[in-house]
Amino acid sequence: MKFFIDTANLAQIKEAQDLGVLDGVTTNPSLMAKEGVVGKENIYEHYRKICEITTGDVSAEVISTDFDGMIKEADALVKIHPRIVVKIPMIKDGVKAIKHLHDKGIKVNCTLIFSAGQALLAAKAGAAYVSPFIGRLDDISTDGMELIEQIRLIFDNYNFQCEILAASIRHPVHIVKCAEYGADVATCPLSSILALLKHPLTDIGLEKFLADYNASQKTGK
Ligand code: E4P
Repeated sequence: MKFFIDTANLAQIKEAQDLGVLDGVTTNPSLMAKEGVVGKENIYEHYRKICEITTGDVSAEVISTDFDGMIKEADALVKIHPRIVVKIPMIKDGVKAIKHLHDKGIKVNCTLIFSAGQALLAAKAGAAYVSPFIGRLDDISTDGMELIEQIRLIFDNYNFQCEILAASIRHPVHIVKCAEYGADVATCPLSSILALLKHPLTDIGLEKFLADYNASQKTGK
């Protein structure tokens, strides 16, 4: 399973990249706003900086909600860097835009997926990725992980090459479950990736190993 980081924070992207496990980055307008990046030129410059840190795909989301606007934005976004993937929302004009961009050889991540039917439609239109939002489904008492399982089954039934990019990940158990259910990618906050490291028995075990080593160096036994 690939690990993407879901942030526009350059320091966090660098930290994940330095860990050696990062396969790409996803952003959205809220995450860009959180970093205080304002104005089209600054936003595009920020995407360029992200592409320079990571070696994988970088999802950049359009703001337009009509077909012509989305295509215009997509054309501008892909000029920023060859690894930009255009993020298009799951709306009617979005589906048309996915088909158009796919036919032009442009990779699309279809975002805001909350049902298997939406994922199927996006895959049919030629999306390279679909982004089911696990955490936001959990928030409304719906098991987000069941959606991953359902989409996996459908894509495997028909050999869709579209990758399942599990999004809205909130904790390390989500990441492990995504791997169990066969998501191709999990896009996570840095805190969830780092939380995978943690186990109290690891800390206790390491402390004991080091204490025994230090004691033996003093006593010679
Ligand atoms: C996906 O690409 C989105 O950026 C993201 O995962 C949404 O997560 P949230 O529900 O934590 O905002």
